[in-house]
Amino acid sequence: MTLQTTANIWHNGKLIPWDQAQIHVMSHVVHYGSSVFEGIRCYTQPNGAGVFRLPEHMARLVDSAKIYRMPLPYTADQLSAAVVDVIEANGVTPCYIRPIAFRGYGEMGVNPLKSPVEIYIANFPWGKYVHGNEGADVCISSWARLAPNTMPTLAKAGANYMNSQLIRMEAEINGYSEGIGLDTNGYLSEGSGENLFLVRGGVLYTSPLANSVLNGITRNSILTLAKQLGIEVVEQALLREMIYVCDEAFFTGTAAEVTHLRSVDRILVGDGTMGPITKALHDEFFGIVNGTRPDRHNWLTPVNVKVAEPVGV
Ligand SMILES: Cc1ncc(COP(=O)(O)O)c(C=O)c1O
Repeated sequence: MTLQTTANIWHNGKLIPWDQAQIHVMSHVVHYGSSVFEGIRCYTQPNGAGVFRLPEHMARLVDSAKIYRMPLPYTADQLSAAVVDVIEANGVTPCYIRPIAFRGYGEMGVNPLKSPVEIYIANFPWGKYVHGNEGADVCISSWARLAPNTMPTLAKAGANYMNSQLIRMEAEINGYSEGIGLDTNGYLSEGSGENLFLVRGGVLYTSPLANSVLNGITRNSILTLAKQLGIEVVEQALLREMIYVCDEAFFTGTAAEVTHLRSVDRILVGDGTMGPITKALHDEFFGIVNGTRPDRHNWLTPVNVKVAEPVGV
């Protein structure tokens, strides 16, 4: 999807023009993948606009940086305020927000500690991520997700997405819209950029964090909504074949939101349509973010944006 530009990007405490947000080719991150980042959505509601679970995203960014010994000179609260500032300065909503912290231009060599930490926050319009309005046709990837003791999956690090890229490229080249990685023990893990949920016999299942999944904020939101709707929820290691025999399956993620799966490895999930539990959760999720149902969990941080159209193309 072509990137639609906006006017400003937040950099180390200041707003700078989009075109000036550049780094040197010898920056540490370019060579060794030393970045941590977030993906956040801002939605429009009838009375304004709000960022979905902003404090939780910024807390995860701070955690990711801590895991990689990357000192951030801003608190999660300051970074949340910066997100609001950049959205309001650019006047673009709905939008996707991409905060990123990385090791910049300093020393060569694997050890990042002598390279400065840079932080940028950009926002831009972004539409549907997993294609298939009638449900996504996905596959199990031949690539496994990251093994524990190799790359920490609680950190949302740029380098993790080399694995995601392998999964996504393989899927798309083979005619699927997304791939699901197993963990290195063969249990279901997650999509290249989404958490995975299954429904069988009225019970909602998802893989626990120990099966190499990102601690997804949409995942957490869906677990909360499911409990509120009285749906039984089980977090347990899931056998691959569970996805072939389940009644419903869906992805969650900031980019993917709630996307139901029509088929996996060309095996239809249920009858291929969005099942009732997925629909109840989907409708509750979109009702909250679009402002047609009450935000009972206080998940939206308001932003004051008067322009409802993208700036620039
Ligand atoms: C690998 C991976 N898993 C899961 C998710 C979903 O996480 P969240 O709901 O916080 O966006 C993402 C997206 O950030 C991801 O990249």
